Amino acid sequence: MGQPGQKYHSHQQDNDTPDHDYCISVSNFSQSYGHLQAVNGISFNVEYGQVFGFLGPNGAGKTTTIKVLTTLLHPSSGNIRVFGQDIVKHSKEIRKKIGVVLQEPSFEANLTVERALDLYGMLWGLPKKDRQERIEELVDRFDMRQFMHMKNDELSIGQRRRVQVAREFMHDMDLIFLDEPTVGLDPSARRAILDYIKKYVQGGLTVFFTTHIMEEAEYLCDQIAIINRGEIIAIDTPAGLKKRYGGVESVEIKFADGGTGMGMSTGANLQDVLAAIRDVLADGSSAEMPDTNTVRISSAGAQEELVKIIGLLAKAKVQVESISINPPTLEDVFIAAIEKSKP
Ligand SMILES: Nc1ncnc2c1ncn2[C@@H]1O[C@H](COP(=O)(O)OP(=O)(O)O)[C@@H](O)[C@H]1O
Ligand SMILES: [Mg+2]
Repeated sequence: MGQPGQKYHSHQQDNDTPDHDYCISVSNFSQSYGHLQAVNGISFNVEYGQVFGFLGPNGAGKTTTIKVLTTLLHPSSGNIRVFGQDIVKHSKEIRKKIGVVLQEPSFEANLTVERALDLYGMLWGLPKKDRQERIEELVDRFDMRQFMHMKNDELSIGQRRRVQVAREFMHDMDLIFLDEPTVGLDPSARRAILDYIKKYVQGGLTVFFTTHIMEEAEYLCDQIAIINRGEIIAIDTPAGLKKRYGGVESVEIKFADGGTGMGMSTGANLQDVLAAIRDVLADGSSAEMPDTNTVRISSAGAQEELVKIIGLLAKAKVQVESISINPPTLEDVFIAAIEKSKP
């Protein structure tokens, strides 16, 4: 405590006092390793029953935060409560009610899946009957039946990770921490892991989940905090983040090919249409032609622009094949948020 590198974040957040109503409440938390400031005065709350996503690039401070929240690492400074209890003073009680799946693979190479699950249940002090019931349930829930009698080192990486996540559910908990559970998995194995976690969320479990993949955060999370270089640069719902940082939508209008429709939508004709569209667009909106049959409009008010453009297209008598409005992706949001946070 009282390390030299410790300092407070320049912009104060209005939730400085930890709240007992939250499952996790973090206020001005900093962590340093010697001179390196890994986490720099972050504050956030996680509600009970929510999936909270901690999204950030490598080295952002995600694992460090998980280690502190799970009492594996003593915080350098800050005020942190889990289930309303101070994590330093009540680490023992808190540990009983949480689960954690860390990044490092942890499994016994020559144990069968079933035996590994059983041993883990023993570690948590579960009686034999409970262990058997629990194993049966998990084997079903995580689709492990076909490899439950195989040894861990005979499994694929995706199957091993599935066992690693499933194993944590051998004991009851109110809160689980998952540190990049999908790293190194192919897209289908990744999706499977997320779906297994989703099933448990429906049962009211609170989940703290880290990832550097936007789609995953979007798929799984109620709230997302974007962390970069030890600082939280945005916290919101996936939809809120998109609105805030990815306000620009694009409208794509595809025109019938030049050869069809009595030659009305020829390339030359479309150049005129593009010019006409540019004339009616509001300031800040723009139009371009990514290919000879497409006009793309980027605008913060895509719907309003579209109304104007449709009138114009009707007059120009061009054949429209399709119109689509594309919302910003979380990837756009992530890049925009990090871009904006640069000094
Ligand atoms: N045990 C450690 N000793 C020294 N530096 C560390 C240690 N663990 C992490 N770091 C550093 O702290 C920063 C944050 O790391 P980490 O929390 O692992 O980030 P993430 O999980 O987001 O990739 C990085 O710069 C990393 O190199
Ligand atoms: Mg990490």
